[in-house]
Amino acid sequence: MSGLLAGKRLLVTGVITDASIAFSVAKLAQENGATVVLTGFGRLSLVERIAKRLPEPAPVIELDVTNQEHLDSLGSRVREHVDGLDGVVHSIGFAPQSALGGTFLETPWEDVAQALHVSTFSYKSLATACLPLMDQGGSIVGMTFDATKAYPLYDWMGVAKAGLESASRYLAMYLGKHGIRSNIVSAGPLRTMAAKSIPGFSDFEDAWTRRAPLGWELTNPEPTAKAVCALLSDWFPATTGEMVHVDGGYHAIAA
Ligand SMILES: NC(=O)c1ccc[n+]([C@@H]2O[C@H](COP(=O)([O-])OP(=O)(O)OC[C@H]3O[C@@H](n4cnc5c(N)ncnc54)[C@H](O)[C@@H]3O)[C@@H](O)[C@H]2O)c1
Repeated sequence: MSGLLAGKRLLVTGVITDASIAFSVAKLAQENGATVVLTGFGRLSLVERIAKRLPEPAPVIELDVTNQEHLDSLGSRVREHVDGLDGVVHSIGFAPQSALGGTFLETPWEDVAQALHVSTFSYKSLATACLPLMDQGGSIVGMTFDATKAYPLYDWMGVAKAGLESASRYLAMYLGKHGIRSNIVSAGPLRTMAAKSIPGFSDFEDAWTRRAPLGWELTNPEPTAKAVCALLSDWFPATTGEMVHVDGGYHAIAA
């Protein structure tokens, strides 16, 4: 098999529909020679159905990143399909409704804690669960919505993303000795299921349409997936702790 990811064994989390960023990553990775194993959360039969739409139907393993039993058994369940991993994609985010939408000052800790558990701490949990399978080094990639600035209504999800970006730098520091890189892709707004639950998402869409110098397609996750695949490949061998923007250049331009 030829291609940018020829011979790579990848674990891709976060597929729920065929609009998921993770679906595009899995598709592009397979088209470029990778073997892909998916994880699914909750609605497993739906994820299995979506997995059949990939160029190669991919196996689906159940994973709730907040469930320690799922994490503890992940390695052995992945080994039923591949003999190790060269790359892991974290494409997971969730915040309860009270954590978004302008009630930042009132959100209770329990809801903030859930957002941080699913969206931030899980990056570390997934990495350590996969570490025994990555004995030849590899690449871990996570997804953010650039959290270096505050956005109206994004609220605690922004805090969770800032934590994720920082956690990636710490993973880069602690996993470098194993030959494992950790990088984050910061995407512009994309119409996925997660995006539907974000109040004021249409304001992001308008802002990107107006400001991104390269323009921005709200329904096309492929540019984002390409960057993820590039970071999973051997073409970023000395890059870790980095955040790559795939946002049409929006972040570089003042309002
Ligand atoms: N859509 C956007 O505009 C956008 C922009 C930048 C970054 N992102 C990020 O990209 C990632 C993927 O989101 P998406 O936009 O493809 O949406 P999506 O809804 O397709 O994917 C989100 C995934 O998170 C999974 N998930 C939620 N809770 C989980 C849990 N406890 N355990 C395991 N999985 C869980 C869901 O099952 C789903 O597959 C997220 O981190 C999101 O914040 C999205």
